[in-house]
Amino acid sequence: MKFFIDTANLDQIKEAHELGILDGVTTNPSLMAKEGVKGQEAVYKHYATICDIVKTGDVSAEVVSTTFNEIIEEGKKLAAIHPNIIVKVPMIKEGVKAIRWFTDNNIATNCTLVFSAGQAILAAKAGAKYVSPFIGRIDDSNWDGIELISQIAHIYQLQGFKTEILAASIRSSLHIVKCAEAGADVITSPLEPILGLLKHPLTDIGLAKFLEDAKKFV
Ligand code: E4P
Repeated sequence: MKFFIDTANLDQIKEAHELGILDGVTTNPSLMAKEGVKGQEAVYKHYATICDIVKTGDVSAEVVSTTFNEIIEEGKKLAAIHPNIIVKVPMIKEGVKAIRWFTDNNIATNCTLVFSAGQAILAAKAGAKYVSPFIGRIDDSNWDGIELISQIAHIYQLQGFKTEILAASIRSSLHIVKCAEAGADVITSPLEPILGLLKHPLTDIGLAKFLEDAKKFV
């Protein structure tokens, strides 16, 4: 399973990268806005910096256009920033058409804002490299986000779809574990749930005892 960090914050990306477990980054317009990056030049430079930090990992950069021609033009510009850029396209009719065009023109895509198995089937049919079901937002709406990951994983396996399931909108460390169990190929998470995976009180108690005992012979 691949680990992506879901942020545009350079310090957090560096911290996850230094942990040695980072396979890529996802961003979205809200995450970019949070970093206060303004104007196309600055935004594109920010994406390039993220690509430099993660070196070989995929970096999703989202289009903000909603018509086919505009999505294609914007996506081509985003893809030209760095070979590791994945063009993130929303699950709308024009988006599906654009994903097919990008697939046919060797530009990798991440189909975002996916909330149902039907949408995930369309993304795979259009040739998206990644499909992003938003499990946290589904849970927030009283539906079961993890159940959706299982359903998509089952369908993709049965049908032989190559699209990778990128579990997005992660809210907790438990979400990460449950997504792994449910068959997600990738999780994208904020830094905190990733670091939360490190924690267990018995680890802390055990280490304190080992260090105390070590004083007896060191
Ligand atoms: C990632 O690709 C998504 O844009 C992101 O995970 C959405 O997360 P949120 O629901 O916490 O905004």
